[in-house]
Amino acid sequence: MTEERAKPDEEQLHHIEHLPKAELHLHFEGAAPPAFIRGLAREKDVDLSGIFRPDGSYAYRDFVHFLSVYEAATSVLKSPEDFARLCTALLEQSAENGVVYSETFLSPDFCGGGDVTAWREYLAAIREAAEAAEASHGITLRGIVTCIRHFGPERARAAALCAAETADDWLCGFGMAGDENKGKQRDFAYSFDMAREAGLQLTSHAGEWRGPQEVREAVEDLGVDRIGHGVRAIGDLAVVDLLAERGVTLEVCPGSNVFLGVYPALADHPIQKLRARGVRVTVSTDDPPFFHTTMRAEYRALAQTFHWSADDFAEINRVAMEAAFCDAATRGRVLKSLEAT
Ligand code: HPA
Ligand code: ZN
Repeated sequence: MTEERAKPDEEQLHHIEHLPKAELHLHFEGAAPPAFIRGLAREKDVDLSGIFRPDGSYAYRDFVHFLSVYEAATSVLKSPEDFARLCTALLEQSAENGVVYSETFLSPDFCGGGDVTAWREYLAAIREAAEAAEASHGITLRGIVTCIRHFGPERARAAALCAAETADDWLCGFGMAGDENKGKQRDFAYSFDMAREAGLQLTSHAGEWRGPQEVREAVEDLGVDRIGHGVRAIGDLAVVDLLAERGVTLEVCPGSNVFLGVYPALADHPIQKLRARGVRVTVSTDDPPFFHTTMRAEYRALAQTFHWSADDFAEINRVAMEAAFCDAATRGRVLKSLEAT
């Protein structure tokens, strides 16, 4: 495939990285710049020196250690106001990268500990910050409540209840993040059913660390509309075809996968093979400062490696907006703004 496509020159790469973008897979706390977290730690007199390298970036050895550093960084985000400040910072960052529409994972576990009344306060503060960012930067944000797999099914039920109580056009999805090597997708079926009954659309991390069977289980046992990552479906073409036939969209985060060692290099990543076999794929950053990436960097690297053109990225964005969890009016408006360029 790559051989048939022309290698983009520098002018084309510049054009591609400046295209408007839709991003579906962004962990809210994972988008916090290290300097932002250090600033909050100073204000609150918390010693977080152990989670940073001398150059100021986040320090961790592997995925499981990443999750614990992530939780340590998140521990300085305490009040609704802290989350509102982070919302402003991350939307500025996304807007600078040309993102016009973004969905972000929010965890009641970090926002009030799963208590519905507290969660409403955090959500209100985040939404207010998002509205202000939309007015000043033209970027639209929507929220997906996310349970955390390694916290177990019981805490997931509390997260799902928070989601069900606040489901609307803004809080439009429910999902699962965390350590994929713990438990089974179906352990969380009760929570996903509760969310679906509340009108929420569904996504789950699967097939980042475990193989194709995990992706099949997310589809068959939880009935998700989208999958976070899902890339290791490539190990079983029957699962790839299941995704294609059911129109399940993958939230692919190529830079994250390479940084964490799921694939040795972007050239080894299956995104192009999945796409060529009819799977709906999109492009996101996951936790950009943790993985030293941005949406611009993702677009540039994909264009360089797979020789994707501006038309390929237009299709990626169209697929993303078709799979977006927002209401039809928002989808239509964003699609128009993506097409206008
Ligand atoms: N994967 C799984 N769980 C997570 C991640 C991630 O990249 N970031 C925060 N929680
Ligand atoms: Zn993720």
